[in-house]
Amino acid sequence: MERPFPTVAVVGLGTMGAGVAVAVARSGRRVIGVEAGPTQAVRALARIEASTARAVARERLTAEERTALLALIEVGDDLAAAAQADLVIEEVPEDLELKRGLFAELDRICPPETVLATGTTALSVTRIAAATARPERVLGVHFFNPVHSMKLVEVVRTVLTSPQAAEQVAELARDLGKEPVAAGDRAGFIANGLLFAYLNQAAAMFESRYATREDIDAAMRLGCGLPMGPLALLDLIGVDTARTVLEAMYEQSKDRLHAPAPILGQLVAAGLLGRKSGRGFYTYEAPGSSTPVAEEAVAAEARPAGREVRSVGVCGSGTMATGIVEVFAKAGLPVLLAARSQEKAERAKAQLAKSLERSVAKGRLTEQARDAALALVTPTGGYQDLADVDLVVEAVAEDLAVKRELFTALDRIVKPGAVLATTTSSLPVISCATATSRPQDVIGMHFFNPAPAMKLVEVVSTVLTAEDVTATVLELCAKVRKHPVECGDRAGFIVNALLFPYLNDAVRMLAEHYATVDDIDTAMKLGCGYPMGPFELLDVVGLDVSLTIEKVLHQEFREPGLAAAPLLEHLVAAGCLGRKTGRGFRDHARR
Ligand SMILES: NC(=O)c1ccc[n+]([C@@H]2O[C@H](COP(=O)([O-])OP(=O)(O)OC[C@H]3O[C@@H](n4cnc5c(N)ncnc54)[C@H](O)[C@@H]3O)[C@@H](O)[C@H]2O)c1
Repeated sequence: MERPFPTVAVVGLGTMGAGVAVAVARSGRRVIGVEAGPTQAVRALARIEASTARAVARERLTAEERTALLALIEVGDDLAAAAQADLVIEEVPEDLELKRGLFAELDRICPPETVLATGTTALSVTRIAAATARPERVLGVHFFNPVHSMKLVEVVRTVLTSPQAAEQVAELARDLGKEPVAAGDRAGFIANGLLFAYLNQAAAMFESRYATREDIDAAMRLGCGLPMGPLALLDLIGVDTARTVLEAMYEQSKDRLHAPAPILGQLVAAGLLGRKSGRGFYTYEAPGSSTPVAEEAVAAEARPAGREVRSVGVCGSGTMATGIVEVFAKAGLPVLLAARSQEKAERAKAQLAKSLERSVAKGRLTEQARDAALALVTPTGGYQDLADVDLVVEAVAEDLAVKRELFTALDRIVKPGAVLATTTSSLPVISCATATSRPQDVIGMHFFNPAPAMKLVEVVSTVLTAEDVTATVLELCAKVRKHPVECGDRAGFIVNALLFPYLNDAVRMLAEHYATVDDIDTAMKLGCGYPMGPFELLDVVGLDVSLTIEKVLHQEFREPGLAAAPLLEHLVAAGCLGRKTGRGFRDHARR
C-alpha cells in the first residue's frame, strides 16, 4: 500500500495531541498542529520542544532526529490550516458538544476526501460522525498515554466508516511503530471496556471494606503480575475520568457492574481526584506526585501476637502441596509431607528434589541450601504423624467432601492449639472449619501457582477464626518471605473475584464478535501492560477451572453480569480446556 496520509493535522495539542504530533512527525510526515488560541499555540509548541528535548536526554531520540521532526511540525490557532491535511486527528477535551462542533467545522473546511479521526476515549464516535456529511470517512483513533511508549492504537469503526479509511489509518499506526487493533464503536472500546469494569469492582471491594487498599493493590500485582494495583491505577488515571468512562459504559450496557461504585462519586465530589489533586484512594506528597504518604496502621498494632510455629505439616502430593513444602523447607522449617500413601509422599519429595535441582542449575540456589532444604522434609503416608506439628496446610483435591473428611481427621490427630489451614481457592473456609471441633483454629492460606515463585498469599479469616490464628499466619508468611494480604471468607477472595469477571467479560466481548482473540489479547498487553492477554491466561489456567470459579462467584453474589459466558460453557462441553488438551481459545496443537 502507498504510504497513507503525507500531511496530518492534529487539533488540540494537550497530553495526547502533543504526543501524537511528535509520533507522526517522527515518521517523516508533515504535521499541522491547531490549538484553541495564540497563547495555547505558543504553550503547545513549548511542550513539544520540551518533551522532545527530554527524549534526546534519555537517548530515545538523537539531536538530529529532533531537529528534523521539529521542522515538520507547525503550530497555529487557525483551524482553516487543517484543509491542507489528508487526515485530521482531533485530541481536544472529552466533551461531546465540543467535538461535534469541531467536526462540523472540519467537515466544512476540509476537502471531501479528507479523513477525520477523533481521539475520544468514551464518547460515541457515531454521534461525532453524525455532525459531518462524510460519516464514511470519520473514525476513532485511540492512542494510549504516554503516546511515545504505548504501542497500542485502537482503530474504531462506526457502522458507516468505510473499511478503506480504517485500513489506511491502521497502516499509518503501523508506520508510527504502533500495533493497531480493530474495534467497533462502544464505550471504552476494547482495552478500557475490559479495564474499567475491573477497576470499578476493585473500588467497590474497597468501599465494602472487604480488604484494605494496600492489600487489594498488592493482591493484583503479586497474584496476577499486573504493573499496578487497581486503586493506585485509578488515582493515576484520575477518579473523575474513570467515573466518566464508567458512566458512558453503563449508559450503553446497563450492566450494574459498570455503574460507577458510589465511592468514586464521593471522591469526585470531595475533589479527591487522585494523583493530580494530591489525594484519591491514597494520599500523595503533593498534587501531581506519584509518592504516596504512609498512613498509620492502627489495626496492626491492636492485634495479638501469633502462636509459635516451629514445625509444619503439608497434606497432599500434587503441584500446590509440593510447592508449599518447598516454600517452608527453603525458609528453614521442618516439614512433614503427608500424603495418602508412603509411595505418593516419596514421589512428591522426589518432585521437590527436581524443582530444587532446577533452581541450582539456574544459579538461584546453592547446593548446600538445596541439601539443607531436602533434609528438612520428611515424607509420610499417614496423617497420624502430624500429631505434633504447630501448623498444617492442606492442599488436597478441590472437593469439599474430601477436604471436610481431612479436617475431621486432622481434628482428631493434631495437638490442641495447632493452626489448621486450607489452601482452597474456591470453597468456603468455614465449611472446613465446621468439620472440626475447633473452628477458631482454622484459616485459609491461599497460595498461588507456582508457590515457590509467586509472592502472594491470601490469608482468609472466617467469622470464627481467632485473632491470634490470623496473626500466626501473617507472621509465618513474613518468615517464609511471602506477601500476605488479608480478606474475609467469601467466593474468589480478592484476586479471583477481580480477575475472573474480567476474563468472563473478555469471553463475552469475543462471543459478541466485537473483537478477535488476538486483538483483545494485544489490547490488554499493549494498552494496559498486562503480562498475558485474557485468552492466553484462560488457556493456561484451564477453561474448566475458570468456569468453576465463575460459577462459584455467580452463585455467591448472584450478580447477573457475573454469569459465565455461554461460549466458555460450550468450549468446556466440547473438551476444549486450554493448553492441557491442546485446544482452548487457541489451537495449541497446530502451533
Ligand atoms: N489523557 C489520557 O490518558 C488519554 C488517553 C487516551 C485518549 N484520551 C483522549 O484524548 C483526547 C484529548 O485528551 P488530553 O488528555 O490530551 O486532553 P488535554 O486537556 O491535555 O488537551 C486538550 C487540548 O485541546 C486544546 N483545545 C481545546 N479546545 C480546542 C479547540 N476548539 N481547538 C483546538 N484545540 C483545542 C486545549 O487547549 C488542550 O491543549 C480526549 O478525547 C481524551 O479522552 C486521553
